[in-house]
Amino acid sequence: MNTIPVTLLFSDGVTHHLKAAKGDKLIDVAAGAGLTLLTDCSNGQCGTCAANCVSGVMELDDYDPSVLPDDERDDGAVLCCVARVNEPTVVELPYDSSEASAEETPAQQGRIHAIERVADETVRLEIDVDAPVHFLPGQYVRLLVPGQSQWRSYSMANESGQTRLVFFVRIVSGGMFSNWLSSEATPGSVIEVSAPRGSFFLRNDDRPRLFIAGGTGLAPFLAMLRAVGNGSYASAPTRLLVGVRSGNHLFATEEIEAIKRDFPALEVAYAAEAAVVPGCHEGYATDLIGQVAVDPRTQVYLCGPPPMVEAGRDAIAKAGLRKGDALCERFA
Ligand SMILES: Cc1cc2nc3c(=O)[nH]c(=O)nc-3n(C[C@H](O)[C@H](O)[C@H](O)COP(=O)(O)OP(=O)(O)OC[C@H]3O[C@@H](n4cnc5c(N)ncnc54)[C@H](O)[C@@H]3O)c2cc1C
Ligand code: FES
Repeated sequence: MNTIPVTLLFSDGVTHHLKAAKGDKLIDVAAGAGLTLLTDCSNGQCGTCAANCVSGVMELDDYDPSVLPDDERDDGAVLCCVARVNEPTVVELPYDSSEASAEETPAQQGRIHAIERVADETVRLEIDVDAPVHFLPGQYVRLLVPGQSQWRSYSMANESGQTRLVFFVRIVSGGMFSNWLSSEATPGSVIEVSAPRGSFFLRNDDRPRLFIAGGTGLAPFLAMLRAVGNGSYASAPTRLLVGVRSGNHLFATEEIEAIKRDFPALEVAYAAEAAVVPGCHEGYATDLIGQVAVDPRTQVYLCGPPPMVEAGRDAIAKAGLRKGDALCERFA
């Protein structure tokens, strides 16, 4: 059988030369060489596995176009979980080779410490584990409810290296994890907690930062801001824009105020589509992007539901930034 060369370029410069048969899935080709490419949903719905095909054309199985818009696909973006090899191909992955080579640390058992309703449709969840969880601020873990077979992903809002993990979970009607959290989970309930994952993490450089959160998409930014506030990451001019459906959906405002005491240069603005509270813009967080001059060196971080992430990418392009300068996490 003819083999097709596939080259994987990692962001630390490490290159892997692999062989594939026509039609092979890229993640299977990588797995055959002992590389675990970062994935979450594994079916083109979340965007976690986004990479850039810099040479060759890949076939993609079905995926959600809001996760990979046509213009990005035209520019070479691919979703590794649904990408198939068609011809000699070079793929650039936006993370270090160590993240793909390391054996995944096994999950550990956690126990719910507290569940608190903090806003409309929003729960603050604290889980205790035995071994401290070290992660890059912005990363997430997968949680598995006893008796279920499907994991769900949630981003840590706490500092790295703790045995108490803090999450903000949006309760979605009819959702498996949401239903369990709303009606069955109690302090003491046992839950499996995976090792941290994800390429949406704070870059440690001095570029200005623009964080744009939709709803519980705020969670990973809380971890990032804490990391800057406690001095583990470089301080840089930082704006946080938080968008919610209504003023009653606002949460973690006191936590943000506490972070600002360690990080006074942080600027925060809120937007709500309805039931606006004083000091809060009526509309979308993305409306606020064009209201002040944006430094062209800005690194943008966008996190929330896929339509909000897309609106954010369009808005930063209008403000003169490159869409490619936005790191995105879609809570699909
Ligand atoms: C990397 C990553 C990080 C994330 N971090 C967070 C976070 O910090 N906070 C957060 O709130 N969320 C986060 N999410 C989203 C989270 O993982 C879940 O997707 C979300 O909580 C919904 O899970 P669920 O089990 O409650 O709902 P699901 O069971 O997944 O259902 C979702 C929706 O689909 C509907 N549905 C389910 N099954 C069917 C069906 N058969 N037919 C029709 N409709 C159906 C449900 O009614 C519901 O409205 C993250 C996602 C990713 C990918
Ligand atoms: S892992 Fe590929 S889109 Fe979710």
